[in-house]
Amino acid sequence: MVKPYIESGGNKKDQISRMFDNIAWRYDFLNHFLSFGIDRRWRGRAIHILSQVSPETILDVACGTGDLSIEALKLKPRMIIGIDISEGMLAKGREKLVRKNLEKSITLVYGDSEALQFDDKIFDAAMVAFGVRNFENINQGLAEILRVLKPGGLLVVLEFSKPRSLLFKKIFNFYFFRILPFMGSLFSKDASAYSYLPESVNAFPDRSDFLDIMRKVGFTDTCFEELTMGIACLYYGKKEL
Ligand SMILES: C[S@@+](CC[C@H](N)C(=O)[O-])C[C@H]1O[C@@H](n2cnc3c(N)ncnc32)[C@H](O)[C@@H]1O
Repeated sequence: MVKPYIESGGNKKDQISRMFDNIAWRYDFLNHFLSFGIDRRWRGRAIHILSQVSPETILDVACGTGDLSIEALKLKPRMIIGIDISEGMLAKGREKLVRKNLEKSITLVYGDSEALQFDDKIFDAAMVAFGVRNFENINQGLAEILRVLKPGGLLVVLEFSKPRSLLFKKIFNFYFFRILPFMGSLFSKDASAYSYLPESVNAFPDRSDFLDIMRKVGFTDTCFEELTMGIACLYYGKKEL
Protein backbone atom coordinates (compact mmCIF):
# COMPACT_ATOMS: atom_id res chain seq x y z
CA MET A 1 0.00 0.00 0.00
CA VAL A 2 1.43 3.40 -1.01
CA LYS A 3 1.59 5.84 1.92
CA PRO A 4 2.89 9.43 1.99
CA TYR A 5 5.40 9.21 4.85
CA ILE A 6 7.48 6.07 4.35
CA GLU A 7 9.69 6.52 7.41
CA SER A 8 6.94 7.29 9.92
CA GLY A 9 4.40 4.88 11.35
CA GLY A 10 0.62 4.96 11.46
CA ASN A 11 -1.97 3.65 9.06
CA LYS A 12 -2.62 5.17 5.66
CA LYS A 13 -5.68 7.09 6.86
CA ASP A 14 -3.78 8.87 9.66
CA GLN A 15 -0.92 9.69 7.31
CA ILE A 16 -3.31 11.01 4.63
CA SER A 17 -5.17 13.32 7.03
CA ARG A 18 -1.82 14.56 8.39
CA MET A 19 -0.51 15.16 4.88
CA PHE A 20 -3.58 17.14 3.80
CA ASP A 21 -3.52 19.12 7.07
CA ASN A 22 0.10 20.03 6.20
CA ILE A 23 -0.57 21.18 2.65
CA ALA A 24 -4.08 22.66 3.12
CA TRP A 25 -2.74 26.23 3.18
CA ARG A 26 -1.29 25.78 -0.35
CA TYR A 27 -3.68 23.16 -1.74
CA ASP A 28 -5.94 25.34 -3.93
CA PHE A 29 -3.06 27.33 -5.39
CA LEU A 30 -1.01 24.22 -6.21
CA ASN A 31 -4.02 22.37 -7.59
CA HIS A 32 -4.71 25.00 -10.24
CA PHE A 33 -1.04 25.90 -10.81
CA LEU A 34 0.30 22.36 -11.26
CA SER A 35 -2.64 21.28 -13.44
CA PHE A 36 -2.48 24.49 -15.54
CA GLY A 37 -6.11 25.04 -14.50
CA ILE A 38 -7.33 21.89 -16.30
CA ASP A 39 -8.79 20.54 -13.03
CA ARG A 40 -11.53 23.18 -13.31
CA ARG A 41 -12.65 21.78 -16.66
CA TRP A 42 -12.64 18.23 -15.28
CA ARG A 43 -14.81 19.24 -12.33
CA GLY A 44 -17.22 20.92 -14.78
CA ARG A 45 -17.48 17.68 -16.74
CA ALA A 46 -18.16 15.68 -13.55
CA ILE A 47 -21.01 18.02 -12.66
CA HIS A 48 -22.38 17.83 -16.19
CA ILE A 49 -22.69 14.05 -15.76
CA LEU A 50 -24.44 14.48 -12.42
CA SER A 51 -26.94 16.83 -14.08
CA GLN A 52 -28.46 13.74 -15.78
CA VAL A 53 -30.23 12.81 -12.54
CA SER A 54 -31.10 16.39 -11.44
CA PRO A 55 -30.00 15.62 -7.86
CA GLU A 56 -31.63 17.41 -4.95
CA THR A 57 -29.30 15.98 -2.33
CA ILE A 58 -25.58 15.60 -3.07
CA LEU A 59 -22.74 14.13 -1.01
CA ASP A 60 -19.20 15.31 -1.83
CA VAL A 61 -16.92 12.60 -0.43
CA ALA A 62 -13.31 13.62 0.36
CA CYS A 63 -14.43 17.17 -0.42
CA GLY A 64 -11.14 18.81 0.62
CA THR A 65 -11.53 22.57 0.26
CA GLY A 66 -14.92 22.16 -1.43
CA ASP A 67 -14.26 23.08 -5.08
CA LEU A 68 -16.46 20.30 -6.47
CA SER A 69 -19.27 21.19 -4.06
CA ILE A 70 -19.09 24.79 -5.26
CA GLU A 71 -19.23 23.63 -8.88
CA ALA A 72 -22.25 21.43 -8.00
CA LEU A 73 -24.24 24.52 -6.98
CA LYS A 74 -24.89 24.94 -10.72
CA LEU A 75 -27.33 22.03 -10.39
CA LYS A 76 -29.36 24.05 -7.85
CA PRO A 77 -29.73 21.16 -5.38
CA ARG A 78 -31.58 21.49 -2.07
CA MET A 79 -28.60 20.21 -0.06
CA ILE A 80 -24.87 19.66 -0.57
CA ILE A 81 -22.80 18.08 2.19
CA GLY A 82 -19.04 17.63 1.89
CA ILE A 83 -17.13 15.28 4.17
CA ASP A 84 -13.39 14.89 4.70
CA ILE A 85 -10.93 13.44 7.23
CA SER A 86 -8.62 16.48 7.11
CA GLU A 87 -9.75 19.26 9.46
CA GLY A 88 -7.14 21.52 7.81
CA MET A 89 -8.71 21.10 4.36
CA LEU A 90 -12.23 21.55 5.79
CA ALA A 91 -11.18 24.77 7.56
CA LYS A 92 -9.76 26.20 4.31
CA GLY A 93 -12.94 25.15 2.52
CA ARG A 94 -15.18 26.84 5.10
CA GLU A 95 -13.13 30.07 4.83
CA LYS A 96 -13.65 29.96 1.06
CA LEU A 97 -17.40 29.44 1.45
CA VAL A 98 -17.62 32.46 3.77
CA ARG A 99 -15.58 34.56 1.29
CA LYS A 100 -17.97 33.56 -1.51
CA ASN A 101 -21.04 33.95 0.69
CA LEU A 102 -21.93 30.29 0.18
CA GLU A 103 -21.80 29.01 3.75
CA LYS A 104 -25.58 28.53 3.82
CA SER A 105 -25.59 26.55 0.56
CA ILE A 106 -22.88 23.97 1.36
CA THR A 107 -22.05 22.18 4.63
CA LEU A 108 -18.51 20.86 5.11
CA VAL A 109 -18.12 18.41 8.02
CA TYR A 110 -15.63 15.88 9.29
CA GLY A 111 -16.43 12.39 8.00
CA ASP A 112 -14.70 9.20 6.96
CA SER A 113 -15.73 7.71 3.61
CA GLU A 114 -15.23 4.24 5.06
CA ALA A 115 -17.69 4.80 7.92
CA LEU A 116 -20.16 7.45 6.75
CA GLN A 117 -22.23 9.07 9.50
CA PHE A 118 -25.43 9.12 7.40
CA ASP A 119 -28.49 6.88 7.33
CA ASP A 120 -29.12 4.61 4.35
CA LYS A 121 -30.63 5.98 1.10
CA ILE A 122 -30.38 9.73 1.69
CA PHE A 123 -28.53 11.13 -1.31
CA ASP A 124 -29.60 11.39 -4.96
CA ALA A 125 -25.97 11.68 -6.01
CA ALA A 126 -22.47 11.33 -4.64
CA MET A 127 -19.17 12.51 -6.05
CA VAL A 128 -15.49 11.99 -5.24
CA ALA A 129 -12.75 14.07 -6.88
CA PHE A 130 -9.17 12.86 -6.43
CA GLY A 131 -10.21 11.10 -3.24
CA VAL A 132 -10.65 7.34 -3.86
CA ARG A 133 -6.93 6.90 -4.53
CA ASN A 134 -6.32 8.08 -0.99
CA PHE A 135 -8.83 5.77 0.72
CA GLU A 136 -7.28 3.16 2.97
CA ASN A 137 -9.88 0.65 1.77
CA ILE A 138 -11.42 1.54 -1.61
CA ASN A 139 -14.05 -1.24 -1.54
CA GLN A 140 -15.25 -0.19 1.91
CA GLY A 141 -15.41 3.49 0.85
CA LEU A 142 -17.43 2.66 -2.26
CA ALA A 143 -19.72 0.30 -0.31
CA GLU A 144 -20.49 3.07 2.16
CA ILE A 145 -21.29 5.50 -0.68
CA LEU A 146 -23.61 2.89 -2.21
CA ARG A 147 -25.36 2.48 1.16
CA VAL A 148 -26.18 6.20 1.53
CA LEU A 149 -27.33 6.62 -2.10
CA LYS A 150 -31.04 6.32 -2.87
CA PRO A 151 -32.00 3.56 -5.34
CA GLY A 152 -31.29 5.01 -8.80
CA GLY A 153 -28.73 7.39 -7.27
CA LEU A 154 -25.59 8.21 -9.25
CA LEU A 155 -21.94 8.17 -8.18
CA VAL A 156 -19.35 10.13 -10.16
CA VAL A 157 -15.64 9.62 -9.43
CA LEU A 158 -12.92 11.84 -10.87
CA GLU A 159 -9.42 10.43 -10.51
CA PHE A 160 -5.98 10.64 -12.09
CA SER A 161 -5.06 7.79 -14.42
CA LYS A 162 -2.06 6.67 -16.41
CA PRO A 163 -2.00 7.98 -20.01
CA ARG A 164 -1.78 5.22 -22.62
CA SER A 165 -0.14 6.86 -25.64
CA LEU A 166 3.55 5.95 -25.34
CA LEU A 167 4.93 9.30 -26.53
CA PHE A 168 2.54 11.37 -24.42
CA LYS A 169 3.17 9.08 -21.45
CA LYS A 170 6.92 9.78 -21.68
CA ILE A 171 6.43 13.55 -21.71
CA PHE A 172 3.74 13.48 -19.05
CA ASN A 173 5.70 11.18 -16.73
CA PHE A 174 8.70 13.50 -16.90
CA TYR A 175 6.45 16.31 -15.69
CA PHE A 176 4.53 14.17 -13.18
CA PHE A 177 7.49 12.33 -11.60
CA ARG A 178 10.19 15.04 -11.86
CA ILE A 179 8.89 18.58 -12.19
CA LEU A 180 5.65 18.33 -10.18
CA PRO A 181 7.23 16.84 -7.00
CA PHE A 182 9.94 19.52 -7.13
CA MET A 183 7.48 22.42 -7.55
CA GLY A 184 5.06 20.88 -5.03
CA SER A 185 7.75 20.49 -2.42
CA LEU A 186 9.03 24.03 -3.06
CA PHE A 187 5.64 25.67 -2.61
CA SER A 188 4.04 23.40 0.01
CA LYS A 189 7.16 22.64 2.09
CA ASP A 190 6.04 18.99 2.21
CA ALA A 191 8.25 16.97 -0.15
CA SER A 192 6.51 13.68 0.64
CA ALA A 193 3.07 14.95 -0.38
CA TYR A 194 4.03 15.67 -3.96
CA SER A 195 6.09 12.52 -4.47
CA TYR A 196 3.19 10.51 -2.98
CA LEU A 197 0.90 11.96 -5.70
CA PRO A 198 2.53 10.28 -8.76
CA GLU A 199 3.34 7.12 -6.77
CA SER A 200 -0.28 6.72 -5.66
CA VAL A 201 -1.54 7.34 -9.21
CA ASN A 202 0.86 4.68 -10.47
CA ALA A 203 -0.47 2.17 -7.94
CA PHE A 204 -4.16 3.04 -8.52
CA PRO A 205 -6.32 0.47 -10.38
CA ASP A 206 -7.55 2.74 -13.18
CA ARG A 207 -9.98 2.39 -16.10
CA SER A 208 -11.62 -1.08 -16.37
CA ASP A 209 -9.88 -2.21 -13.15
CA PHE A 210 -11.68 0.50 -11.21
CA LEU A 211 -14.98 -0.30 -12.93
CA ASP A 212 -14.50 -3.93 -11.84
CA ILE A 213 -14.24 -2.74 -8.24
CA MET A 214 -17.35 -0.56 -8.61
CA ARG A 215 -19.32 -3.50 -10.01
CA LYS A 216 -18.03 -5.88 -7.35
CA VAL A 217 -19.23 -3.47 -4.67
CA GLY A 218 -22.69 -3.38 -6.30
CA PHE A 219 -22.83 -0.40 -8.67
CA THR A 220 -24.63 -0.94 -11.99
CA ASP A 221 -24.55 0.83 -15.38
CA THR A 222 -20.87 1.57 -14.78
CA CYS A 223 -18.91 3.48 -17.36
CA PHE A 224 -15.77 5.60 -17.65
CA GLU A 225 -14.43 8.30 -19.94
CA GLU A 226 -10.90 9.57 -20.39
CA LEU A 227 -10.07 13.22 -19.91
CA THR A 228 -7.12 15.13 -21.44
CA MET A 229 -5.26 12.26 -23.14
CA GLY A 230 -6.02 9.91 -20.25
CA ILE A 231 -4.34 11.95 -17.48
CA ALA A 232 -7.61 11.58 -15.60
CA CYS A 233 -10.78 9.53 -15.91
CA LEU A 234 -14.37 10.05 -14.90
CA TYR A 235 -16.12 6.93 -13.63
CA TYR A 236 -19.83 6.65 -12.98
CA GLY A 237 -22.25 4.08 -11.79
CA LYS A 238 -25.73 3.79 -10.30
CA LYS A 239 -27.37 2.14 -7.34
CA GLU A 240 -29.91 -0.35 -8.63
CA LEU A 241 -33.56 0.75 -8.51
C1 LIG B 1 -6.57 15.38 -3.39
S1 LIG B 1 -7.69 15.86 -2.15
C2 LIG B 1 -9.14 16.20 -3.11
C3 LIG B 1 -10.02 17.25 -2.50
C4 LIG B 1 -11.18 17.70 -3.35
N1 LIG B 1 -12.11 16.63 -3.59
C5 LIG B 1 -10.71 18.31 -4.64
O1 LIG B 1 -11.17 17.87 -5.68
O2 LIG B 1 -9.92 19.24 -4.60
C6 LIG B 1 -8.09 14.31 -1.38
C7 LIG B 1 -8.91 14.47 -0.14
O3 LIG B 1 -9.35 13.16 0.25
C8 LIG B 1 -9.48 13.19 1.66
N2 LIG B 1 -9.63 11.80 2.13
C9 LIG B 1 -8.75 10.79 2.02
N3 LIG B 1 -9.24 9.66 2.58
C10 LIG B 1 -10.47 9.97 3.06
C11 LIG B 1 -11.46 9.24 3.75
N4 LIG B 1 -11.30 7.95 4.07
N5 LIG B 1 -12.61 9.87 4.05
C12 LIG B 1 -12.80 11.17 3.75
N6 LIG B 1 -11.89 11.93 3.11
C13 LIG B 1 -10.72 11.34 2.77
C14 LIG B 1 -8.23 13.92 2.09
O4 LIG B 1 -8.27 14.36 3.42
C15 LIG B 1 -8.16 15.05 1.05
O5 LIG B 1 -8.77 16.22 1.51
